[in-house]
Amino acid sequence: MARDRVVTRAELPEDHVEPPEAAGVSPLRPQSLEEYVGQPELVEKLGIGIAAARARHEAMEHVLLHGPPGLGKTTLAYIIANQLQSAPPRITSGPALNRPTDLVSLLTNVQPRDVVFIDEIHRMPTAVEEYLYSAMEDFVVDVVTGSGTHADSIRINIHPFTLIGATTRSGLLSGPMRARFGIVHHLNFYSQPDLLTILQRSAALLTMHVEPGALEMVARRSRGTPRVANRLLRRVRDFALIRGGGRLTSELAAGALELEGIDDKGLDALDRRFMSILARDYDGGPAGLDSLAANMGEESDVLEDVIEPFLLQSGLLRRTSKGRQLTASGWAHIKLKPPDGAATDELFEP
Ligand SMILES: Nc1ncnc2c1ncn2[C@@H]1O[C@H](COP(=O)(O)OP(=O)(O)OP(=O)(O)O)[C@@H](O)[C@H]1O
Ligand SMILES: [Mg+2]
Repeated sequence: MARDRVVTRAELPEDHVEPPEAAGVSPLRPQSLEEYVGQPELVEKLGIGIAAARARHEAMEHVLLHGPPGLGKTTLAYIIANQLQSAPPRITSGPALNRPTDLVSLLTNVQPRDVVFIDEIHRMPTAVEEYLYSAMEDFVVDVVTGSGTHADSIRINIHPFTLIGATTRSGLLSGPMRARFGIVHHLNFYSQPDLLTILQRSAALLTMHVEPGALEMVARRSRGTPRVANRLLRRVRDFALIRGGGRLTSELAAGALELEGIDDKGLDALDRRFMSILARDYDGGPAGLDSLAANMGEESDVLEDVIEPFLLQSGLLRRTSKGRQLTASGWAHIKLKPPDGAATDELFEP
């Protein structure tokens, strides 16, 4: 169910590949730091890091990017690799790395100043993580030769490289791992003006005809997330073509968003279900995440990574030491009244 949502965590082909009629149009994903909208401090830090590394002909410091899905972590990894090396990054992910040996060929094959991108880096087993330490710090790896009683371990030098780690959960990363990154940055949700800029760029790339106000409406309902903005844009574009002859007006955008079940705050059916269950079954909370997840038939990871960050940011939900809890605005948004004695934020605020 969560996989069918516009805010789904997984990347879909439509995020990158253009539909056939738009062949020849460059992908929506920005290719350079100049095209990357928003996150100004991060962009500045990376711009300096890249320029300095190029000037010194050295590998750039390791970079750790954390933040909710769809805010541009993978995009940045491509941009950094492109600007450092004019080459794509070498990509892997935490769950794909089961044993240290899974890293050996990747690391021994890196070319000088390559970028290695590890997505979901918090999901690497400890043994793999520890294996990475010496590679990151001293650019050496231990390789086992022979087997059985003849097994031996030799230490070999590898080329200096830049590791880019991405995670939706920096809290799950160990202290020693985190300490090995020179640049650590949390990506925040995007502002409305930034989302509008992204939508304007995407609409131009998709050669859409847009009337004033229509993209603003999509921006307001994009949960501060570029990936969601671009997906909604495709939905409203289809809707405008079929229902309105192609030109996107605010009315058509509103119609398309309503059809998608996206409300005026950008919440969809799953968000509202989460809030309704919290309201009805737990009197608004506090409720434990695992219990809520079981109740919804969802994984707690999905709740924590995909649903909660935006509800927290919008002030509809809060986290207390006892669990998740609806705020007064949360109750108002789902048009329910808190029962007498329900712990809303006002009562619980320390
Ligand atoms: N700053 C930005 N400017 C313009 N477009 C952006 C920006 N950030 C992201 N996008 C768009 O949003 C899409 C999703 O971004 P990306 O895949 O980099 O997110 P992510 O942070 O890696 O997400 P996940 O955690 O799910 O892997 C991109 O394909 C790109 O089109
Ligand atoms: Mg990604």
